[in-house]
This record gives sequence, C-alpha cells and structure tokens, in this order.
Amino acid sequence: MKCVVCKGPAVIDIRRHNANFCADHFLEQCRRQVTKAIDEFSMIERDDRVLVAVSGGKDSLAVWDLLVALGYRADGLYIGLGIGDYSAVSATYARDFATARGLHLVEVDLPDAYGYDIPTGSRAARRAPCSACGLSKRHLFDKAALDGGYDVLVTGHNLDDEAAVLFGNTLHWHTEYLGRQLPVLPARDGFPRKVKPLVRLTERETAAYCVIRGIDYLVEECPMAAGNRHLSYKAALNDIEAASPGAKHAFYFGFLDRAASHFAAEAASDREELGACRSCGAPTTAEVCAFCRLVERAGGHVPSSEGPASVPVALGATRAPRAGMASVERVPAP
Ligand code: AMP
Ligand code: FES
Ligand code: ZN
Ligand code: ZN
Repeated sequence: MKCVVCKGPAVIDIRRHNANFCADHFLEQCRRQVTKAIDEFSMIERDDRVLVAVSGGKDSLAVWDLLVALGYRADGLYIGLGIGDYSAVSATYARDFATARGLHLVEVDLPDAYGYDIPTGSRAARRAPCSACGLSKRHLFDKAALDGGYDVLVTGHNLDDEAAVLFGNTLHWHTEYLGRQLPVLPARDGFPRKVKPLVRLTERETAAYCVIRGIDYLVEECPMAAGNRHLSYKAALNDIEAASPGAKHAFYFGFLDRAASHFAAEAASDREELGACRSCGAPTTAEVCAFCRLVERAGGHVPSSEGPASVPVALGATRAPRAGMASVERVPAP
C-alpha cells in the first residue's frame, strides 16, 4: 500500500477517496478537509476568537489541534457533567492536552455550578440521559461562548455523527430538525455562531489523526450512551458504507446540497417564536426554558450570574434577559 502523494509506505487507506496516505500526507489531508469545510460553509473568519467544546475524546481534541495548526486563536471549553469516573477521567485528557500545548481551557462543572449531575437530572426529568446531557451542554456552550466574548463555538461532530443524526431525523421525518441540521448555525441574539469543522472527516480518520499526532484521548465511550438509538444508526450506516464506500458522504452532503433548504422555512418559523427565559434570560419558545425546567426538576439552581434572584429556580419569577438578548419580545430570525 503506497501513499498517493509521495509513493512512500501508506499508513491508512480511505476507501471513499480511493486513496492511501503516509502519516505526513494523511495529516495534510485532514488539514485540507477541515480548511475546505471552513471555507465552503464560511465557518470561521481569520481573526475570530474561537471556543472549542472539548470532551477529552478524539474528535474534539483533534479539531482543537487542527484549528491551532491552521493558525486560529482557539481556546477550549470543558464541561464536567458529573458522570462518575467517566467525567473525572475525561477532564484529565482535556486538561493534559491544553497544558502540554500552552492552550487555555475554560472549565464549567455542572454539579458545582448548577447543583445537579446528568444521572440525577435525567432520572428526575424522566429524560434519556443523552437528552438531559445534550440540553445541559447546549445551554452551557452558548453561555460560555457569549460570556467569554467568543465569536464562534466549535464542536467535534464528524461525518459519522452528522450522517447518523440525519438518518434518524429522516427515518422519523423530524422536519423541524432537518431544517436546522447544518454545519453552521449563524449567531443571533442569545446564541453564538456554532460550527462543525470535522464534517468532512470520519471518526476512523480523527482517531488516526490523534494517534499520528500523539494526542492522548479518552477511548471509552460515555457509559450512559449504551443502547442509544444513535449508535444503532451509526452501525447501520457503517454496514452500508462498507458495501458502498462514499455512501455516508453522499447521503449527508447530498442532503445539504439538495434537500436542507426545503426544510428551512419550518426551522425559521420556529425561531420567530423565541422570547427570553424568565429564569435565566436565554432564548426560548416557552416562559421558562427547557434547561431551567430541567435544573428545577433535578433540584439544582441557576447561578445568580445568570439573572437576579436565583436559588432555587423560581419558575414564576421575572428576570432580565440574558446579555445579548434583544428583548423579551420576539427575536427576529437572522
Ligand atoms: P457528543 O454529544 O458526546 O457526541 O459530543 C459532541 C461534541 O460536543 C463533542 O465533539 C464536543 O465538541 C462536545 N462535547 C461533548 N461533551 C463535552 C463536554 N463534557 N465538555 C465540552 N464539550 C463537550
Ligand atoms: Fe452526555 Fe453521555 S456524555 S449522556
Ligand atoms: Zn506521502
Ligand atoms: Zn432558562
């Protein structure tokens, strides 16, 4: 097996590109794919202040490393979710990566700051753990990015993640989600711009990237994700990809090119309903946002920095909108 670029010994084959690469040219290929995604979807400007959400896993550490290598000013954000040893260990991977490279890592601990953890929150709210976790993370990502004055929030979602979510949303015809399933969500009042620069790379490639770059990452998957439907969608797509290399890419990018715009109106009409949460000021379609309702059911509290009177969440209380919100009235779609 020879590298398509230099004809030296290859370390990886990428069937959907019908190409093999040596270590150096594979790293170059990863940088090229990320650059292409950033340019194609206008994800990040050269002088943007970038905040990368890092879990300690391969994808988010790879994207942080790639953005720094490409010359972006990128800090990291780690959220402690209180999932026992899993959270304790994942934090050390994020911290060690930052320390070894002299990068800045912002940390938020959910149990310390909000008084609940994901296992308790999901039980109390009768939500699947990944749903309570996703809701909590989204709130904390938005808040950390806005509070820190960052222009853009980056996540490590890769092609496998995006194709699996698209597969699930298509199977169930969640058309309101299809309209929002884009690699870039533009900034609007109360939300930072959110981007996924790894959409052109698979998780096999981000793992290989980390190994070649000597990035130590947490291999173990989250214990609460076992049995998650998302994992079965990934497995189904992997079978299809094995029989038909390039199928995942064609599915996801074909959707972006030819179908996503058909669902845009539905997603936009959703946005026009947004007002400010009475408890924390975040944009929401309800009086009190889903995050604050979760915090309340979990017996936690919203810190006073997110509004006036705080602990515990007073569902009837009125608060000033979160900094950056236009008003309690309707927020126009961007
Ligand atoms: P997941 O929802 O676990 O598939 O993670 C998707 C992306 O969210 C990751 O690639 C990270 O960018 C981000 N992320 C997940 N967990 C955390 C965490 N504990 N702290 C910060 N970012 C996270
Ligand atoms: Fe969120 Fe596992 S990381 S439920
Ligand atoms: Zn080569
Ligand atoms: Zn709220």
